Amino acid sequence: MSTTSRSPVDQSQGAKGAAVTRHPLRVAILGFGTVGASVARILVERPELAGRLELTHIFNRDVARKRAAWVPASVQWTEDISEVLASKPDVVVEVIGGVDPVGGWVRRALEQGAAVVTANKMLLAAQGPALLHLAATRGTQIRFEAAVGGGVPLIHGVREGLAGDVLTRVAGILNGTSNYVLSRMARSDEDMAPVLDDARTLGYAEADPSADIDGDDAGAKLVVLAGIAFRRHLQLSDIPRRSIRQISAADFRYARKLGCTIRQIAMVEAQGTGFHAFVGPALVPTQSSFGRNEGANNVVTIVGKYGGESSFSGAGAGGPATAVAVVSDLLALAGQPRAGDVGEEWLPAIVAPAPARPYYLRFVVQDAPGILASIATSLAGQGINLDAVLQEPGFAKEALPFVITVEACEEAALQAALREIGEADFHAELPLALPMLWTDES
Ligand SMILES: NC(=O)c1ccc[n+]([C@@H]2O[C@H](COP(=O)([O-])OP(=O)(O)OC[C@H]3O[C@@H](n4cnc5c(N)ncnc54)[C@H](OP(=O)(O)O)[C@@H]3O)[C@@H](O)[C@H]2O)c1
Repeated sequence: MSTTSRSPVDQSQGAKGAAVTRHPLRVAILGFGTVGASVARILVERPELAGRLELTHIFNRDVARKRAAWVPASVQWTEDISEVLASKPDVVVEVIGGVDPVGGWVRRALEQGAAVVTANKMLLAAQGPALLHLAATRGTQIRFEAAVGGGVPLIHGVREGLAGDVLTRVAGILNGTSNYVLSRMARSDEDMAPVLDDARTLGYAEADPSADIDGDDAGAKLVVLAGIAFRRHLQLSDIPRRSIRQISAADFRYARKLGCTIRQIAMVEAQGTGFHAFVGPALVPTQSSFGRNEGANNVVTIVGKYGGESSFSGAGAGGPATAVAVVSDLLALAGQPRAGDVGEEWLPAIVAPAPARPYYLRFVVQDAPGILASIATSLAGQGINLDAVLQEPGFAKEALPFVITVEACEEAALQAALREIGEADFHAELPLALPMLWTDES
């Protein structure tokens, strides 16, 4: 292991900061898949970048089948990570994904003073603080514009553009698959299963879409955003994640009655000295930026004490869009005036309870007298006030959906009431509780 610090950006400064000749940053790409191939293509197709960025290596397992004729002959194709690192690249672009074995390779690159550019939210959620610390101690950087929001310049926007504010909340639609599914259900009155099947056929969802629709993908992105916005590290396990699987066509009918729709929301907000975060389906006003967000797009709103609300939106995924974010990170490294002056640390975050919120409660029951009174009694027992009761006509009595909205209440009190309500024998389906994020939150 090398103990010396060597950064690609060192070469721009001579003694006493005098400028010396800068050579192009030597770039190695790990992973020639959707994003990696798009990164290489931008580097090859933009000759004006040649003075600043030089692609030297492409690493992939079974690399022979990956070779592309449009990649210049000067680029080395390899399946040996040691060969890549021994070539002393200035920057390693990690676009493989996952935590192992990639985390070890990223650490080795940083240890020898190379900068790292990664699109890997899972690695950052698991090891972000340690990797940032390692980069800072080696006088180099790990950059990750592509890890959240694909091609949307969110990390740069928050880190640099909003640095003058004290941020209090970050909320967004960070998972394109879930948003595609929910926004299509809102328009078509279909249940989830056929929409998810179509999403797979159209390439919006993977064969196993669990990470997307159960919230792990958005949760990992939220960890990264919390690090950027608050310089605090929330563990993924600190973020409650609720699946969108339970949302039905009936929920959209009821949401519409309330002037709302349903989206998978990822939110983290400062609560005193701590932070509360969650990922899951929520009611949002139809006319809010979240309610209007369609298809696989991402949208994120950031709230600051001084500047109020700012929004970022655009293509949250896709090879070319994501590669733009990677290349922008590379250009930022190529333009850095000095090494080691942007090192940052994420301190451990204190987890806070959810703030009081109004909720949408959907029950599906076998109809019988006294059900509403029984539910109201359980809610009142926890000090929760009803706001409205909605029941649409046309449903069978054996599986009758109806909705109760309740005034702002603590989540713990609501969960206690729902546990008691859940013990009754009149349920045809488990009750569903969705936070209602009103205009000041969405
Ligand atoms: N795709 C997007 O729109 C998008 C957007 C934002 C962020 N990202 C992130 O970008 C990263 C890459 O995503 P992607 O969509 O480009 O994935 P991908 O298409 O699956 O590409 C990954 C590449 O890495 C190679 N690879 C996998 N495991 C390897 C190993 N152990 N050793 C050597 N090579 C290995 C794969 O080779 P094989 O061909 O053999 O599998 C493949 O060429 C992930 O962290 C992802 O979360 C992707």
